[in-house]
Amino acid sequence: MNDFPIGVFDSGVGGLSVLKHIRELLPQEHLYYVADSANAPYGNKSDIEIQIRSDLITRFLLGHNIKALVVACNTATAAAIEKLRSDFDLPIIGMEPAVKPAALMTQSGVVGILATPGTIASQKYAKLYQQYAANVTIISQPCVGLVEQVEMADLTGAQTRALIDKYVASLLKQNVDTLVLGCTHYPFLKSLIEEIAGEGVSVIDTGGAVAKELRRKLEQADLLNKGDNQGEVHFWSNSEKAHQVVDQLWDTKLTKNKLDI
Ligand code: DGL
Repeated sequence: MNDFPIGVFDSGVGGLSVLKHIRELLPQEHLYYVADSANAPYGNKSDIEIQIRSDLITRFLLGHNIKALVVACNTATAAAIEKLRSDFDLPIIGMEPAVKPAALMTQSGVVGILATPGTIASQKYAKLYQQYAANVTIISQPCVGLVEQVEMADLTGAQTRALIDKYVASLLKQNVDTLVLGCTHYPFLKSLIEEIAGEGVSVIDTGGAVAKELRRKLEQADLLNKGDNQGEVHFWSNSEKAHQVVDQLWDTKLTKNKLDI
């Protein structure tokens, strides 16, 4: 089983930001990525709808013999990971906004979390929030529209800039000095967010921590691919646009396939 692939999925192309970290840390692993872009964004869907999509995608990936699954989507992690873990018997790794490192890093004592409305409204998020809210002030900022901008590969255009301006300005007014990217689409906007937020503000992404957690889980289950060759990267999407956009977001070899679910 060690040379079986790792499945990774997101509501769209955002999870490619996580896939990059996995590729860097575990270059010998075969990576099978599903972008459910025809159904993006997940951020305004009900938990049940997200659970149904997550279930279908997991079954599709299991049909390709994956040995582990990464839910490279904060919104799907919040809505569906518990159900996936109870329904399927394989290591499943999810996303969680990096509140802990942000709480350690902040000097002003005020941390801003950029995420989708779905993530912010979730119980999982409420728990995480409560864990740290005693020590630092956490301000949650739902960022409606940003996922759509990344799905169009508009990473620097006027509309994207206007949205980030609006969301970041509201946080800066409240003395935020540390920003957490609580959605896997946002690392593609990191440079723009840093530029708009200005020098005194740190911007934190969770992808690296998730790749390490994946390695740890694979090690534990003795599932690491110990081969010497570079793994293959396969990409599936049910959206034509995603097939074009992936070329702008992923710069090494990848095989594209049509997703029929
Ligand atoms: N990349 C997803 C996340 O991390 C975006 C969710 C959405 O499609 O709204 O939450």
